[in-house]
Amino acid sequence: MRVALVGLGEIGLAAHLPALLRHPSVEVVQLVDPDPERRKTAAGQGIPVTADLTPGTTDGLSGGVDGGTSGGSTGGRSRGLTGGVEGVVLATPPWVTPELVVRFAGAGLFVLAEKPVATSVEAARIYDRLDGEQRRRVQIGLTYRHDPAIRQLKRWIDDGTLGTPVLVRAHIYDEAYDPADREHAERITRTLEHGSPVVHEGAHIFDWLSYLLGPPTVHDAWSATTRPGLPAPNLIGARLGYPGGHQALVEFGWFTAALPRCELTFLGDRGLAALDGFTFELRLSTAAGDREVRFPGDRTTRCFDLQVQRFVELYDGTRKAGVPSLDDGIAALHTAQLVAGRAG
Ligand SMILES: NC(=O)c1ccc[n+]([C@@H]2O[C@H](COP(=O)([O-])OP(=O)(O)OC[C@H]3O[C@@H](n4cnc5c(N)ncnc54)[C@H](O)[C@@H]3O)[C@@H](O)[C@H]2O)c1
Repeated sequence: MRVALVGLGEIGLAAHLPALLRHPSVEVVQLVDPDPERRKTAAGQGIPVTADLTPGTTDGLSGGVDGGTSGGSTGGRSRGLTGGVEGVVLATPPWVTPELVVRFAGAGLFVLAEKPVATSVEAARIYDRLDGEQRRRVQIGLTYRHDPAIRQLKRWIDDGTLGTPVLVRAHIYDEAYDPADREHAERITRTLEHGSPVVHEGAHIFDWLSYLLGPPTVHDAWSATTRPGLPAPNLIGARLGYPGGHQALVEFGWFTAALPRCELTFLGDRGLAALDGFTFELRLSTAAGDREVRFPGDRTTRCFDLQVQRFVELYDGTRKAGVPSLDDGIAALHTAQLVAGRAG
């Protein structure tokens, strides 16, 4: 699978590119970013680095997006598309990603697009321009859904190990504020201009909770801003209900000098499961005793590798639709927006 990586920022270069390079069936043929500094950082790897991936603006490509629909399992390999690019990974900000998804999926390419799928449900309406076949080729970078720890949690919930219903407490805290790290402070401020942490982190959490418990109802929500001048509340939380009487108390926090522990707990009458928010180590406590469950490797490597594997399976026809799908990404955004709206 000939893949272009679009967006050479933090996650693009630190996680997507290494995972793409590790996969034996993937050839990274193009690195793309409009920012010359980012292009400079990515240069020297023997992969062409360009400012865009559209006709007439690329240096190393002969074709350009031509609106064709071939590629992958359903047609001839798409040499005519963007100089032979068959898939794109979009590691771009969510205020840029939707237009790019529509452009590339609309041209018949397979697309792995970072979460969140947009910064608002309104902005996500652009996806209505894609037809069923084009939507099917889109996979969303809700990366950690792939982790075996999430599947293990689902087994403990479904087989009654924890008892039912469960109370979920999700404490999602990240991005500690360090004024000396100007690049990080600017990036997080820029991101907050496009919504509170529930929009950005909620994409993951609401996706996991829907996968584990079903579709949510938002009961109530709150928010707080810890310093003047922040473009959005940096602390926000909500109470949600799920089918079967499950409930979730979720909190998201960014950008304070110190952060509470990032952890999700699942408490039922028979047991308690705790998921470390960073390592994804699991701890199960029941009347039978305590048990720790760890999966091999570090979470980022494990999940980004599984994500690329699923993307290749989408391309070769093993999977009929992206997992997680565009609809999954839109559903998580919908919940995040409801929470943000209720929180005020
Ligand atoms: N899946 C995960 O676990 C995970 C983790 C971190 C970030 N993310 C998501 O990844 C995305 C990127 O985050 P980041 O931290 O790498 O941000 P970043 O700002 O470091 O990188 C984004 C890059 O996209 C580039 N870009 C902007 N407009 C572009 C365009 N039109 N075409 C091509 N490139 C363009 C920017 O120049 C920048 O280099 C965000 O949506 C974020 O939510 C996901």
